[in-house]
Amino acid sequence: MRLGVFDSGVGGLSVLKSLLQAKFFKECIYYGDTARVPYGVKDKETIIKFSLEALDFFKKEKVDMLIIACNTVSAYALEILRANASFPVIGVIDAGILAVKNSLKNKDSKILVIATQATVNSHAYKQGLLKSGFFHIEEKATGLFVPMVEEGILKGKFLNSAFDYYFSGLSFKPDALILACTHFPLIAQSLQNYFGEKTKLIHSGEAIVWQLNQEYTLAKIQQESIVKFYASSDVEKLKKIAKLWL
Ligand code: DGL
Repeated sequence: MRLGVFDSGVGGLSVLKSLLQAKFFKECIYYGDTARVPYGVKDKETIIKFSLEALDFFKKEKVDMLIIACNTVSAYALEILRANASFPVIGVIDAGILAVKNSLKNKDSKILVIATQATVNSHAYKQGLLKSGFFHIEEKATGLFVPMVEEGILKGKFLNSAFDYYFSGLSFKPDALILACTHFPLIAQSLQNYFGEKTKLIHSGEAIVWQLNQEYTLAKIQQESIVKFYASSDVEKLKKIAKLWL
């Protein structure tokens, strides 16, 4: 099977990593819209327009399935992408909510969702979590983490100052932290150190693999997947980052 993986930039590599470990797909085509990242500060119409352009790319690549490894795109463009594709298009938000349901037995759990401004504005996570019976939910836009990750700042003083900037006024210590932006798993260890071991981190990549296991009958392949990288700007930089992270 030929899988397409789409993100606005390099963050979707965190999802690709989980997908490669799951060994479902013979070929993976990753496309990052690196020329136009970040999407998380853009309006709905622009996010939809860019996403449909990416869909055209994946149609030409003849993929059998497309994973939207971007929460911002999943929040705004999933339905329109599905309506325009002849193959399954799977977003990360439903998968993330399923993962929360699976890992938190207590509906009283305090959940912090960190995401781009656009994802927070959509309230897609909050609505899904409320429907699932959770009610202690705070959504926080932490957009600065996106350029930091793109710059390779994954730990250290500068990142910790950004944590203080966003989290020092929190009204609770989260039982679960949803990494609702695919860039954020790359700073997962730093976030875990900041919040402590008791906070359960929910990762889009692991969540999507779990969902694929539940909802699709995908046979395991025996060899390593063939991965091809494409980007709207500086594909060499994307490949270099992929080499480091995957
Ligand atoms: N990786 C994207 C997401 O999951 C966010 C980065 C961006 O702002 O484009 O929302």
